[in-house]
Amino acid sequence: MTIKRSVVLGVGSALPARVVTNEELAKKVDTSDEWIVQRTGIRQRYIAGEGETSSTLGLKAAEAALKDAGLTSADLDLIIVATTTPDLTFPSTATQIQARLGMTHGAAFDIQAVCSGFVYGVTIADKFLTSGSHNRILVIGVDTLSRIIDWNDRTTCVLFGDGAGAIVLEAQNQKGDVNTDRGVLTTHIRSDGRHGPKLCATGGPSTTGTSGVLTMEGKEVFKHAVGMITDVITDAYAATGFTSDDLDWFVPHQANKRIINSSADKLGIAPEKVVITVDRHGNTSAASIPLALATAYGEGRIKKGDLVMLEAMGGGFTWASALLRW
Ligand code: ACO
Repeated sequence: MTIKRSVVLGVGSALPARVVTNEELAKKVDTSDEWIVQRTGIRQRYIAGEGETSSTLGLKAAEAALKDAGLTSADLDLIIVATTTPDLTFPSTATQIQARLGMTHGAAFDIQAVCSGFVYGVTIADKFLTSGSHNRILVIGVDTLSRIIDWNDRTTCVLFGDGAGAIVLEAQNQKGDVNTDRGVLTTHIRSDGRHGPKLCATGGPSTTGTSGVLTMEGKEVFKHAVGMITDVITDAYAATGFTSDDLDWFVPHQANKRIINSSADKLGIAPEKVVITVDRHGNTSAASIPLALATAYGEGRIKKGDLVMLEAMGGGFTWASALLRW
């Protein structure tokens, strides 16, 4: 039996020029490097400066992913951008990136699932590719949450950073055997809107007419995160027959080292298989997983044939997993 799978052809990322360390933040709000590192594992984050926006960072990540794939935008038929911080209310960041890539065919659209956006984007792309309607899709995760942070709120401003990551997926014929096929093997997306107020912005176009600022009940997020993460990963195991022992890499959303370690521990994933970049990037929302993928791939850790588990949880609440063979 031959089936179509969505195979990763290339990966790329982009970060703003400016690094902001914990020490620098401690000069502005009542916090310390020790507190931030102990509670979150974050040591620094990149913050977008003048002229750096979600579309400029997303474009750079897209160009890097296309270069890595050995392709140009002429080879794509769809662009999906996961972001909560678009340059403008409309047009979408995806169509802006499409234009700057010089792509006048196909289609481009944004999706919004906050920190789970990239895994939602991979899920949507996989449906288009495996249905046979599209052949190559660029999925970008990008956020500039620094633009909606209250920089006087020490409970949130220390957690987030800006960045972008992208992958190119191509529909390829595979044997239909999860044990040997390359590409996306299973995806699982979930949400429960009852938790919305626990992690949200205080405004929006249809209410305040402003973007608002990010607010969060940190303890509540933490309380739900590990259970939700392990749920969707268990779903991926049930769909494929794999267990934590079979994984080569666990690439979780980079919110917080303690959430990552607790989830890996609960699932029995060995620490050396866990990709952690939150120390360098902070929580970059939809960008965090493709940034972590690009980092681990760039360091030669993730290789062709490796079994890779992606997982995210964020505002909504939304949560999702995608299991793929690189
Ligand atoms: N520096 C110093 N002290 C601080 C800071 C700070 N930046 N922030 C809060 N504190 C203080 C609090 O005021 C409190 O002081 P008090 O005891 O005098 O009242 C004390 O530290 C403890 O505060 P808690 O909120 O109880 O701290 P906690 O141990 O819960 O850690 C944290 C807070 C890191 C936010 C934790 O709840 C957490 O990791 N939650 C998950 C949130 C998260 O990762 N969100 C990301 C977005 S969601 C996602 O991407 C999945």
